[in-house]
Amino acid sequence: MSAHENHAAKNSVSEAKAKSSASSRVVIFDTTLRDGEQSPGASMNLEEKIKIALLLEEMGVDVIEAGFPIASNGDFEAVREIAKRVTESTVCGLSRAARNDIDRCWEAVQHAKQPRIHTFISTSPLHMKFKLQMSPDQVHQAIIDSVTHARNICPDVEWSCEDGSRTEHDFLCRTVETAIKAGARTINIPDTVGYAVPEEFAALIKMVINRVPNIDQAVISVHCHNDLGLGVANSLAAVGAGARQIECTINGLGERAGNAAMEEIVMALRTRQDLMPFTTGVNSEYITRASRLVSAITGFVVQPNKAIVGANAFAHESGIHQDGMLKHAGTYEIMTPESVGLGKSTLVMGKHSGRHAFRMKLKELGFDLGDNAMNEAFKRFKDLADRKKDVYDEDLVALIDDEIQHEAELIKFVSLQVIAGSRGPQTATLELEVEGKVQTATTQGNGPVDATFNAIKALVPHEAKLLLYQVSAVTQGTDAQAEVTVRLEEGGKSVNGQGAEPDTMVASARAYIHALNKLMVKRAKTAPAAMSA
Ligand code: KIV
Ligand code: ZN
Repeated sequence: MSAHENHAAKNSVSEAKAKSSASSRVVIFDTTLRDGEQSPGASMNLEEKIKIALLLEEMGVDVIEAGFPIASNGDFEAVREIAKRVTESTVCGLSRAARNDIDRCWEAVQHAKQPRIHTFISTSPLHMKFKLQMSPDQVHQAIIDSVTHARNICPDVEWSCEDGSRTEHDFLCRTVETAIKAGARTINIPDTVGYAVPEEFAALIKMVINRVPNIDQAVISVHCHNDLGLGVANSLAAVGAGARQIECTINGLGERAGNAAMEEIVMALRTRQDLMPFTTGVNSEYITRASRLVSAITGFVVQPNKAIVGANAFAHESGIHQDGMLKHAGTYEIMTPESVGLGKSTLVMGKHSGRHAFRMKLKELGFDLGDNAMNEAFKRFKDLADRKKDVYDEDLVALIDDEIQHEAELIKFVSLQVIAGSRGPQTATLELEVEGKVQTATTQGNGPVDATFNAIKALVPHEAKLLLYQVSAVTQGTDAQAEVTVRLEEGGKSVNGQGAEPDTMVASARAYIHALNKLMVKRAKTAPAAMSA
């Protein structure tokens, strides 16, 4: 069954099912766009956030935390747009325990088919004293006021006790009971600083279940940071103890060491049904695609040995392992690569494929382009097919993503000629269209990439600092397309740009230009200072 087919039925009942800790259904709450985006350098623009949200919806995520609407106008706009576009998943916005935060959050999520307000306040002695400078009684009153207000405007309210794992048990139980009385239907217990260990965290969840009299009226959620590398282990231990919502991110993106990684949670539950007989609504075959998308957009590389989505996660290098694999895949493989959407590269088309077949293929991949974009994309596909023997689905996705990203840019790439090699000097001759006029520059540099970026600076003078330059291959083989990410920083704001092309230098130029265009858009808007939870 496709993710879309089972989504609607599943979603409306998932939380009802999850309410009882006797149920086996675990709600997957993705916070890549909120907690994930709080990682320094991981900021995403509106189009990128929408793209990730739509993929999360397609893969069957139950709740998408789309942002923190009061933090900035950009955050607000992103949450509102995602709320309008996503129909299958619940769309959630974060807010502090203050009326205007909650109102702003509601303004953004109210358009969603299934909106949720997620409001939080710290409950640990340390946070109350130093961060909030409030007494426990004041915090308790703020919970009553904020949750009651949120519940008066939105039927689905989640309440979080920030730094929950370091909160005194009596106070934790008192606040959880109060939040439920005030109308919260999901109670999230975060391990905000990634301090807990699995046994202890499971005991905390059990303690809450045993001591809070109205706990059966809410779903217990957990939100585990990864400072000690225990985010996933703590989340799974909590589910064993009765939690039925897990908050997580793609690739484990998030503040500091990140959040619990969604791909690890989904695959652990799927693979170890014998010990953890729980289900999620996530179609695991989307995992690789989601991981690559988030990595390309944020410029956060996935380490090669990362569980589930690392480049080596399914590679078998040693002779003994390879021999075992040939005899029986189960000898060294506990999950199949196909189950996470790997190894399904289908040879799609070649240089003889026509426009009709191309259009049909794009439709199948989920792209619906207008006539102009389609013509441009078809030209680029023909060019690619001339240069690359086999064109795979991944190639088309990279090509179309690149086309969409560069469509409405102020500075457009026209052509690039590079002299590289050991003799030097490495030289780039670049043509750009800047505000409708084609201009050319020839520059030298310390290597072809440096020469190319110097040519961009000669044509579009700017002070932005290059923070990241990253190249990866879309598929295997020396004729694979290069996918380049460039991060630029100006005035404390950073942006990521992407480019994909068989020629690494052209991909690099396109990625740099993409980032530069984003900076120009950012300059034009005067965004208020960002805020984090
Ligand atoms: O880590 C945390 O405590 C949070 C809360 C806002 C849920 O991100
Ligand atoms: Zn967090």
